[in-house]
Amino acid sequence: MKIFINKRKLKKFVENEKELGFVPTMGNLHKGHISLFKRSLSECRKTIATIFVNKPQFNKKNDYLKYPRTINNDIKILKKLKIDYLYIPGHKDIYPFGPNKKIKINYLEKKLCGKFRPGHFRAVVDVVDKFINIIKPKKIYFGEKDMQQLKIIEDYVKKKYDKITIVGCKTVREKNGIPFSSRNNLLSTNEKIIASKIYKILVLNKKYLIKKFISMNRIRNKIFNLGVKKIDYITLLDVNKLTKPYKKNKRYKIFVAYYLRTTRLIDNI
Ligand code: PAJ
Repeated sequence: MKIFINKRKLKKFVENEKELGFVPTMGNLHKGHISLFKRSLSECRKTIATIFVNKPQFNKKNDYLKYPRTINNDIKILKKLKIDYLYIPGHKDIYPFGPNKKIKINYLEKKLCGKFRPGHFRAVVDVVDKFINIIKPKKIYFGEKDMQQLKIIEDYVKKKYDKITIVGCKTVREKNGIPFSSRNNLLSTNEKIIASKIYKILVLNKKYLIKKFISMNRIRNKIFNLGVKKIDYITLLDVNKLTKPYKKNKRYKIFVAYYLRTTRLIDNI
């Protein structure tokens, strides 16, 4: 695996790659990320990973500072997987002129997490756009765990780069049901148990919610009764409505964002 910290050197290596798969990450790699790498390795001639904790997409400074960083272990994982290229840029390499303030994204920006994290998705799109221009990949891999991120990027890339395919990959879960996430490392054992109970409540009640046999308010109360202090949102949405043009067949998912102490967790089920 070739490792780069500088885009000039990286560009020389990747400019002739015709079938390059790209997996952007913020590191602290887990089985969710690994599923994306494996998918790219199986579909593309060469695969490039990036590890970059993208400061502008964090709404709170502290959240950025406490984001887990495990670069040595990450490199070990990527070498074992036989990833071809790894790019670990510094802030200046990506933002020599600062973030792009003019990024425009679609109406989805205002929904779900967008309401609670102003500017977050624009910063995600900005960094992905910058990576696209450096790496020029054929396919880029994203997890359905962050469904809103996936849909916003899909829409942006479709409009701007017609030759690039965005590939959405299924959420990988721990045995207790919660999605693998770098933020799980910030949870206590008891908080993990609560998160797992919330997952089970949502899985068990989804069909009753769709049939309106149970109200979302009751579900919300069940979650509060577990000791959760704050739910940013919990809503049942037709996933096809997150894409344009709307597809007619209904495919529902419960989208949720809640806090366990200071850790914000999201899921869609
Ligand atoms: P990060 O949280 O590191 O996630 C990198 C990719 O892994 C994302 O596409 C995310 O959806 C996917 N992923 C995370 N957990 C997963 C799970 N349990 N199952 C399947 N896929 C999972 O998302 C980001 O970084 C950043 O916003 C980024 C796109 C890199 C831009 O900075």
